Amino acid sequence: MNALSVKAIDFIRQPKQMLINGRWESAASGKLFPVTNPATGETIAHAAEGDKADVDKAVKAARAALESKVWAAMTPSDRGKLVWRIGDLILKYADELAELEALDNGKPVTVARSADVALAADIFHYMAGWATKLHGLTIPISISGGNFHSYTRLEPVGVVGQIIPWNFPLLMAAWKLAPALTTGCTVVLKVAEETPLSALRLGEIMLEAGLPDGVVNIITGFGETAGAALAAHPMVDKIAFTGSTDVGRLIVNAAAGNLKKVTLELGGKSPNIVLKDADLDVAIPGAANAIFFNHGQCCVAGSRLYVDHDIFDEVAEGVADIAKKIVLGSGLDPQTQMGPLVSDIQLNRVCGFLDSGFQEGAKALSGGKKREGAGYFVEPTVLVDTTPQMKVVREEIFGPVVVAMPFKDVDEKIIQQANDSIYGLAAGVWTRDVGKAHKIAHQLKAGTVWVNCYNVFDAALPFGGYKQSGWGREMGAAVLTHYTESKAITINIG
Ligand code: NAI
Ligand code: MG
Repeated sequence: MNALSVKAIDFIRQPKQMLINGRWESAASGKLFPVTNPATGETIAHAAEGDKADVDKAVKAARAALESKVWAAMTPSDRGKLVWRIGDLILKYADELAELEALDNGKPVTVARSADVALAADIFHYMAGWATKLHGLTIPISISGGNFHSYTRLEPVGVVGQIIPWNFPLLMAAWKLAPALTTGCTVVLKVAEETPLSALRLGEIMLEAGLPDGVVNIITGFGETAGAALAAHPMVDKIAFTGSTDVGRLIVNAAAGNLKKVTLELGGKSPNIVLKDADLDVAIPGAANAIFFNHGQCCVAGSRLYVDHDIFDEVAEGVADIAKKIVLGSGLDPQTQMGPLVSDIQLNRVCGFLDSGFQEGAKALSGGKKREGAGYFVEPTVLVDTTPQMKVVREEIFGPVVVAMPFKDVDEKIIQQANDSIYGLAAGVWTRDVGKAHKIAHQLKAGTVWVNCYNVFDAALPFGGYKQSGWGREMGAAVLTHYTESKAITINIG
């Protein structure tokens, strides 16, 4: 394993506190929980175990900040510059952030640097521009006998509770915080208990950028306690959640108390379709990347690979050959291509899916088991001989496991099969026929469709799910509607 930098060692040495009202604070209970390096299973740090009392304090700080002069009266231009500065500072501290991410989540440090950190900076830079471009409309109305001037204003939705997962800890924080700040909201962010480090470092960065006290508060702690308290808090106006579909449902129920606005970015079981005319030199590595990127711990993972019958063996074996060559190891080792899963819980979950697949008759062309020894490693796996009713075909595995299935000719059937899921987050299509590409893309029930590519994300593109993959969209202009209220003002001008 590569040695950690002095900066990272220094950051994890002290027990980590929470950011509340511009200050770093321990949990009211005084409790701490261990933070683990998933490549070794060792405890590397401790973080404050925030609970209901801490969430309440943070929400009150966010409420006060929402109405404070320093935030509410900040000009859009100054707010935009502040959001931009956060993006700049993320790039300034990119190496350190990537190192913390690799240590805490397990992903390769090179990937953390080029994907997670780079895209996190990008969303702040993109959203910064919107601060000065959020405006209402002047609307002619048709009431007879009067003379009215009507217009709309976009106002911040208010105090936003944000709950994020562990698969892209820094990037998920960035996707959530950047639109909230550009629209003038204030935030209580509850980070995932598995991976608190990079968001806490981002908290320091935001203070360095000049963020006023209380505008962003960061709580570390568990979902059932801190997360649930945030989702139910009566002073929170909106909750934005990314995580499992089951917890998404709990969030909706918790939000019912004060009918807070809800956006959800949930699970997926994304189909990836390879047509007979596809360029296989691109499609085979593309299909491997679609499932193995981030060790399959992606809500968009291309986990159902549908391949034309005539080229099925070539594609399935091609993906399996790539899988066999992937170098597993600690994320901090520059040679590593795939790190461990995030936790022993996820390791057991993924292995449980593999067992169920084999019991139901699936065969592995590659992988199929965990790697013995320390750390939570699973071998990249290609399963064949599966049927549509199997658990491994229907449920989100959230690990490096793809089910490959042949189909005959592109007709309604393959579209039906692709759409036969409770999820609808993403989908892929590989073909040289541009007409077919458009047609299939239009028929797929998914919030994102990639043609001859996969995992292409951009801050300007809306991202979210059909069906049980979620409510609303992240990023792009689309996310701003979820962080603003539109107010219609009508004046009788006589
Ligand atoms: P999870 O949905 O339990 O956790 C995500 C976040 O929600 C964490 O911050 C957690 O503390 C919080 N949370 C948990 N229970 C809560 C509650 N009752 N109220 C409020 N907040 C709560 O996901 P988990 O357990 O980490 O992973 C389980 C499965 O969920 C994965 O195997 C995967 O299938 C899916 N998942 C999907 C993600 C996505 O990006 N869509 C991300 C993470 C997990
Ligand atoms: Mg959970």
